[in-house]
Amino acid sequence: MAFLTGEVTYSRGLEGVVAAITSIAAIDGEEGKLIYRGIPIELLAEKSNFEETAYLLWFGDLPKKDELENLKRDLVEHREIPQFLVDCLKGAPKDTHPMEILRTCVSMLGCFDPDKNDNSRGANIRKSIRLTAQMPTIVAYYSRLRRGLELVHPDPKLSHAQNLYYMLTGEVPNEEISKLMDVILILHMEHGMNASTFAAMVVASTLSDMHSSICAAIGALRGPLHGGANERVLEMLQEIGTVENVEPYILNALKEHRRIMGFGHRVYKAYDPRARILKEYAERLSREKGDTKWIEIAEKIEEVMIREKGKKGIFPNVDFYSGIIYNLLGFPKEVFTPIFAIARVVGWTAHVLEYLQANRIFRPRAIYNGPLDVEYIPIDKR
Ligand code: CMC
Repeated sequence: MAFLTGEVTYSRGLEGVVAAITSIAAIDGEEGKLIYRGIPIELLAEKSNFEETAYLLWFGDLPKKDELENLKRDLVEHREIPQFLVDCLKGAPKDTHPMEILRTCVSMLGCFDPDKNDNSRGANIRKSIRLTAQMPTIVAYYSRLRRGLELVHPDPKLSHAQNLYYMLTGEVPNEEISKLMDVILILHMEHGMNASTFAAMVVASTLSDMHSSICAAIGALRGPLHGGANERVLEMLQEIGTVENVEPYILNALKEHRRIMGFGHRVYKAYDPRARILKEYAERLSREKGDTKWIEIAEKIEEVMIREKGKKGIFPNVDFYSGIIYNLLGFPKEVFTPIFAIARVVGWTAHVLEYLQANRIFRPRAIYNGPLDVEYIPIDKR
């Protein structure tokens, strides 16, 4: 076999490369459509909730009543984390980013998992449910410790979405905020072959374990080109500060070839349907809270960006309006990306479960463009 030195198709960043077959979700990037198991995201956001949509993604169909009750019970039962982890959270440097904490704690949870030596489908489903139940607790506990606040323990009476809000803020959400929390989690739950899902699948394809896959996914999600963008959006809004500053700020950033966070997508060349829904909620919540400053700045950014870049297919993505919502809900900005992870763990684990049913190790190649026939020079002659 010859060295691979050039005459093959190469796609930077794997653009357009098909890496798997899935029935979990699909994106129509031209039309700006997203479906989970065939159901449009708009319908799920309007009618469903976290637990039901998680069941759909993991098992393929919407649950019957008893199936939903069983899943809810399992998620509630596994919310608490081992005391050892709570002690680790207390001992961690307060300037650690919660995504680092999440990655580290998920790794540690693997050591405590009752199925840790079992890579069967049944064990992996149980691990998926446990991880989904535990991740909000890790994030909320650490976030409160970081803010010098008392821990708020999970409340078994609350739904997954309500409980996340409760553990972060110490308050039980009203009906409207409960719905919003479900919508946020549903919209972030799954998105096909994105970088973090692919990272999880690459690890799983070696027949490694579920916790290792999710650690890899958390690491990938953290970057500002992926889930880390939501935190940067709020920083950008704060830096811009006023509606009047938007136009010069954006034009200058584009002139300097800087990325505007919360815009653009590898697959969507139209408005991201998730952003459309979040924008409506962000507008409503801003009005209700009587704090419209950030949404006004954001909408002006959108206007300028679509005018300047819309013809290149650059529109707001899911990360653009979510930060405004989290900010209005009183969440500190370092939990924005962890909330993405808390939702996306369902998609990550669903893809791992699906891929393992017909597993083949991921092993792409690279074109070699280094020298050939190089002589080995002994160390004293170099
Ligand atoms: N601001 C300004 N220009 C942009 C942006 C942006 N946000 N995104 C893409 N472009 C331009 C880019 O400069 C390039 O222009 P040219 O052809 O003149 O060189 C062109 O669009 C194509 O960019 P690309 O980097 O080849 O696109 P990609 O598919 O590799 O990257 C992306 C996709 C999401 C990484 C990119 O759009 C980006 O960096 N966006 C900002 C970060 C962000 O919001 N990420 C969240 C993505 S959605 C949620 C998630 O997955 O987490």
